Amino acid sequence: MNNPLTGKTAIVTGASAGIGWAIAEDLAAAGVKVVVSARRKERLEALVGKIVAGGGSAMAVAADAGETRQIDQLMKETQDWAGRLDIVVVNAGRGLAGGILSSDQRQWESMYRLNVLGAAYLMRQAGEILCQQGCGDIVVLGSVSGHHISPFSGFYGSSKWAIAGAAEAMRREVCGKGVRVSTLKPGIVTSEFQAAAGYDTESFKAWVKKWGQPLNPADVARAVTFIVSQPGHVHINEMVLRPTGQDYP
Ligand SMILES: NC(=O)c1ccc[n+]([C@@H]2O[C@H](COP(=O)([O-])OP(=O)(O)OC[C@H]3O[C@@H](n4cnc5c(N)ncnc54)[C@H](OP(=O)(O)O)[C@@H]3O)[C@@H](O)[C@H]2O)c1
Repeated sequence: MNNPLTGKTAIVTGASAGIGWAIAEDLAAAGVKVVVSARRKERLEALVGKIVAGGGSAMAVAADAGETRQIDQLMKETQDWAGRLDIVVVNAGRGLAGGILSSDQRQWESMYRLNVLGAAYLMRQAGEILCQQGCGDIVVLGSVSGHHISPFSGFYGSSKWAIAGAAEAMRREVCGKGVRVSTLKPGIVTSEFQAAAGYDTESFKAWVKKWGQPLNPADVARAVTFIVSQPGHVHINEMVLRPTGQDYP
């Protein structure tokens, strides 16, 4: 059977850990040339080494996904290396413990710059290229916390609500040009996310006790590969992916 992804080029942001790392590996295993990006260059180089050792093709670009100039540089280096772009996984993001009253307000701006403004800027830059060529995929990592706003981690959830809204707005803007913009909203996934967000380990253990086994990054990666493997006339606009036992959010 023909592999629909062979020979395509993807950018995956937030690829130095967790979900992004797994997405890059899964796409590379499916024959995609992968540009992996995040701030920690040594981690990216380890990932590139692993992909290349497995017979795949990858390049690392260290960049802050909240900074427009660094996103421009990521786009340029991708074009220089691959000469084309087919898939962009807008994955770099971070959580923030607490709600509007209880979260650390000093982190609000940087979280929004990364989760919303930087994500939207990458979508715009990629969208221009994909619209010109008349095909391509943008997959945005939302969250169940943005699907059902809960008091827990509420301001983080609002950033994921916002970027899911932007993704749907862009889908309507570009679908007539053959470009697909999808939002993937995972439930709880074991990664570095919980520590970076400042969630306490006791709460995490309590969720696992209540909900059972969380998702792992590879589960999310398979969903991304599934979304971008659909025939050109089929578009999975949105997907919610939870651990089976997670009732809410
Ligand atoms: N884990 C969950 O339960 C869960 C659930 C739903 C949605 N999500 C979403 O899934 C995405 C990935 O999360 P994860 O679970 O894989 O978290 P993770 O393990 O903490 O990984 C986050 C990735 O984002 C990168 N990153 C963070 N800040 C960045 C910045 N300013 N510029 C560039 N890269 C940055 C990190 O790399 P560097 O530190 O090297 O830059 C890392 O590669 C996020 O958008 C998150 O909101 C996660």
